[in-house]
Amino acid sequence: MKRNIAVAIDGPSAAGKSTIAKLVAKKENFIYIDTGAMYRCVAYYCLSHDIDIHQEKDVEKCLAHLEIKLTQDNKVYLNGQDVSQEIRKDEVSLGASVVSQYEAIRTFLVQSQRKMAQEGNVILDGRDIGTVVLPDADLKIYQIASVETRALRRYKENQERGLEADLETIKEEIEQRDYQDMNRAISPLKKAKDAIELDTSDLSLDEVVEKVLELIQQVREG
Ligand code: DC
Repeated sequence: MKRNIAVAIDGPSAAGKSTIAKLVAKKENFIYIDTGAMYRCVAYYCLSHDIDIHQEKDVEKCLAHLEIKLTQDNKVYLNGQDVSQEIRKDEVSLGASVVSQYEAIRTFLVQSQRKMAQEGNVILDGRDIGTVVLPDADLKIYQIASVETRALRRYKENQERGLEADLETIKEEIEQRDYQDMNRAISPLKKAKDAIELDTSDLSLDEVVEKVLELIQQVREG
């Protein structure tokens, strides 16, 4: 029997991880698991139920009321509602970075991510996939890009989605999230020892996808 392959893509905010993971998943027919969307759902739930995201105990209580579903056409459902668009708003991004610091939230979501990762060939993107969620992943990529490149990409994305966009604010928010994600006590963002670093600042989307496909091929060839 062919064994399943697990690919982990970690890296800072707006480095293009999910774009690459989605394209690779489509080409390879892998299941894509957007772990950031799950933290975003927790933040979105709090923000839309007047729960203060800075009150850890109050955020923890939400867990009992959350049913998060990721579909293979890349939609995100929270308690049956399609929240794919809402969870991309900037206030949810910052909120997700806050709630992802809480131990109970991480334990709950990591458990569910590991379960989903059993389902077949998978590609997961996040901050702790190669270090915590799947330390035995077959391929670990640490995807980075300069903060200027990341801010500009997010700026264009927001414009295309018709969302508010101010380049300087976006850059500041990315820097704030980088700081929070890299300096939190539990599972901070860091490169796994056996991860391959991929700096995408000067690479096109196609070039990055090609590189990841090449690396997957190498895994297959063992
Ligand atoms: O990948 P993203 O921007 O959608 O993630 C939103 C936030 O969730 C990010 O600031 C940090 C957190 N996160 C995390 O702590 N661990 C993950 N595996 C994925 C995301």
